[in-house]
Amino acid sequence: PPLYIITPTYRRSEQLAELTRLSHTLMLVPNLYWLVIEDAYKTNDLITDLLKRTGINHVYLTAPMPEQYKKKKGAKPRGVSNRNKGLEWVRENAKTGVFYFADDDNSYDLQLFNEIRFTRKVSMFPVGLVTKFGVSTPVIRNGRFSEFYDGWQGGRKFPVDMAGFAVSVQFLLERPHAIMPYSPGFEEDGFLKSLKPFEPNEIELLASSCTKIYVWHTQTKKNEPSSSLAEKYNNTNVHLLKKI
Ligand code: UGA
Ligand code: MN
Repeated sequence: PPLYIITPTYRRSEQLAELTRLSHTLMLVPNLYWLVIEDAYKTNDLITDLLKRTGINHVYLTAPMPEQYKKKKGAKPRGVSNRNKGLEWVRENAKTGVFYFADDDNSYDLQLFNEIRFTRKVSMFPVGLVTKFGVSTPVIRNGRFSEFYDGWQGGRKFPVDMAGFAVSVQFLLERPHAIMPYSPGFEEDGFLKSLKPFEPNEIELLASSCTKIYVWHTQTKKNEPSSSLAEKYNNTNVHLLKKI
């Protein structure tokens, strides 16, 4: 069955590095469609070129965060417009298989893709490097799901990380109202609740009953380059490198 990987991305100086790293992982995965969806009004030629060079089956779309959320102070619903656009594409173009939300900055073991490919409803697995708890995962007691271990419960029914679950395309298609809410901190919970009817005891537990880590919530250190480059480099290669 095909795998649909939905990756939100946005313009910043780390973007090309993140997408290069992720693409060179995904190049090793067979039968994969990569939906790269940028929070922007227009696409970026550097990314179009990178995607072409990878040879991966892909679409590169845009889905800007609505202005009302962009203007707000504090936590923003990052990647939500992108992921909903991805879901829309899957509804229109896919019939079978599995989809997975893969942020552009996380780190993925190839074994993850081997396992999520056979998801029948919703599968879950541990995510490393999330909060001070170190990991976010379903808790298994006596071989069965019992609760969620996550640094922040927040009154959520599904206190899980965005990288910690995969969903069957058919399961989504049977739920035409499933959508991700523009609600910082509650994106995963809101989306999984919108897949109703679905209860935690139906989760397919992967990664050897959630005893292995195949995905890490890594975060790249920001290092915004200074915008002023010395005049004397204007007619050199350095000038070109400045533009991302
Ligand atoms: C965590 C979760 O893992 C995200 O899935 C969730 O969207 C995010 O928190 C949130 O709730 O704000 P985190 O590493 O803190 O992730 O967030 P980022 O990696 O900065 O953003 C998540 C995804 O959205 C990335 O793929 C990023 O490229 C994209 N993004 C981020 C945008 O499309 N637009 C933005 O303005 C920021
Ligand atoms: Mn991230």
